[in-house]
Amino acid sequence: MSLLIKNGRIITATDDYVADIFIEGETIRAIGRNLHIKADREMDVAGKLVFPGGIDPHVHLEMPFMGTFSSDSYETGTRAALFGGTTMVIDFILQKQGKPLRSALDEWKRRSTDNCVGDYSFHMAVTDFNDTTKFEIRDLIEKEGITSFKTFMAYKGALMIDDRQMIGLMEEVKKHGGLINVHATNGDMIDYLVEKHRSEGKLTPLYHYLSQPEVTEAEASERFADMANYTGCPGYIVHLTCEGALNAVRNATKRNQKVFVETCIQYLILDASLYEKNFEGAKWVMSPPLREKKDQETLWAGINQGLVQVVATDHCPFKWEQKLLGKDDFARIPNGHPAIENRMELLYSEGVHKGKITLNKYVEVACTNAAKIFGMFPRKGTIAVGSDADIVIFDPDEKHAISAKTHHMNVDYSGYEGWEVTGKVKTVLLRGQVAIENNKCLVKKGYGQFIKRKKVGAII
Ligand code: URP
Ligand code: ZN
Ligand code: ZN
Repeated sequence: MSLLIKNGRIITATDDYVADIFIEGETIRAIGRNLHIKADREMDVAGKLVFPGGIDPHVHLEMPFMGTFSSDSYETGTRAALFGGTTMVIDFILQKQGKPLRSALDEWKRRSTDNCVGDYSFHMAVTDFNDTTKFEIRDLIEKEGITSFKTFMAYKGALMIDDRQMIGLMEEVKKHGGLINVHATNGDMIDYLVEKHRSEGKLTPLYHYLSQPEVTEAEASERFADMANYTGCPGYIVHLTCEGALNAVRNATKRNQKVFVETCIQYLILDASLYEKNFEGAKWVMSPPLREKKDQETLWAGINQGLVQVVATDHCPFKWEQKLLGKDDFARIPNGHPAIENRMELLYSEGVHKGKITLNKYVEVACTNAAKIFGMFPRKGTIAVGSDADIVIFDPDEKHAISAKTHHMNVDYSGYEGWEVTGKVKTVLLRGQVAIENNKCLVKKGYGQFIKRKKVGAII
C-alpha cells in the first residue's frame, strides 16, 4: 500500500515548508515539491498543517491504583489517543513491592499485548530496589528495550522508594545506558499534611491541594537533581507543575547535568481555583495538584527557554463512580484525570493559536523531544525519509468544543467540558495506515505495536 500526501505544510521541530510526502508500507520514502510518484492513494491537504504523530510519554492505562483500575483499557486509551493525534504512548509498569520486575512486566504484557490500537512502550516503575532487582535492570534495557525507570518520591507504603534505593538504582541504570523518571514530591511531608487535615475534619478536594504545597515539589525536585548529578545518571522529572520546582532544575542545569522536564497540558491551562467547587473538584484531584496562574506563566516560559522539553498528559482516568470512593475523604479519591485525547488540540489552541509558542516548539514538545529523550528518534517524532509514517493532518482554523459526549476516552466526564478549541486533528496515519479519518477509527486493536527503545541520552 502506498500513499502520496500532496501540498501539506510540513512542520517539524526545525522546519516549516510545503511539500509532498510519499509513503510506502509503514515508512516515509520521499519528501519533495511536486513529487511525480504513482501511489495507491493520493490525498491533497493544501491549507492543512502536517505534523509528526504526537507522542505522549506519560499515560496510565488499565493501571491498578488506589484500590481500583484507571478506566481506559489499552484498546480504548490508545484509540482515544489516535483520535487526538497521538500515535504513540508510554505507559507505566508498576513493580509490586517484594516482587521482581519481571513478574510486573509479565502482568502488564498480559493486559496490553494484542490489545493496543496505537503504538506503545513502557517505563518500568521500580518501587522496591534491592539486590535482586538490581540484576534485572540490564535485561530490561538490552533485551526488552525498556530503557527508562520510574521512581516515586511519594505514595509511601505502595510506590515510594527512599533516597538510599534511589542512589543505588541511579548507579545501576547509568551503568547500562538508561534514564530515571521521577514523581518528585516529598512523600513524608505530604503524608503529614494529609493526616493533619483529616484529623481536623478537613475532607473536601480542596485539602488534597492544600496537602501538597509548592515546597513539597520544589524540595523533592532539587533533591532528585542533586542525586542525579552525584551519580551522573540522566534524570527526567515527570509532571512538573510549579515555579519552585522549575527553579530547582534551572539551578541544576547550571552544572550542565541532564535533568529533563515534562509538564502536562493541565498544568499549563488549569488552576487550583477548580478545587473550590466542592466535590466537583474531584475531577481534578491529581498529584501534584493544579497550581496557580503564576505557575502557568513560569511553565510556558520554561518551554520557550528549553527548560521544559515535553508536554504530556499523565492521563489516568477514573469514572465518576470511582471518584466517589473519596466523597467523604479527599485522600481516597483516585488521583488522576483524562486528557490523552485532548493534549495535541489543547496545546495547539492555547499555545500556538494564542501566540505563546511557535509551531516548531509545538512539534518539539508534543512529538520530537519525547522520541529523542526516550530512544525512539528518528523512527518516531519527526517527518523524514526513513521514519515511520506517523502523521497528523491538522486544520488550524476549525473551531470545536471539548465534551464527554463526543470524546472517545472511557470516562463519563471531561475536565475540559465546553472548552472552545481552535484547531482540529482531521486525519491520522500510523505506520502508513490511515488510522483516523472522518471522525472514524479505521485500525483495529492489535494494530498498535510495542516499540523497543534504544539506550537513552545519546541524542539529546
Ligand atoms: O494523579 C496522578 N498523577 N495519578 C497517576 C499517578 C501519578 O502519580 O502519576
Ligand atoms: Zn506521578
Ligand atoms: Zn503519572
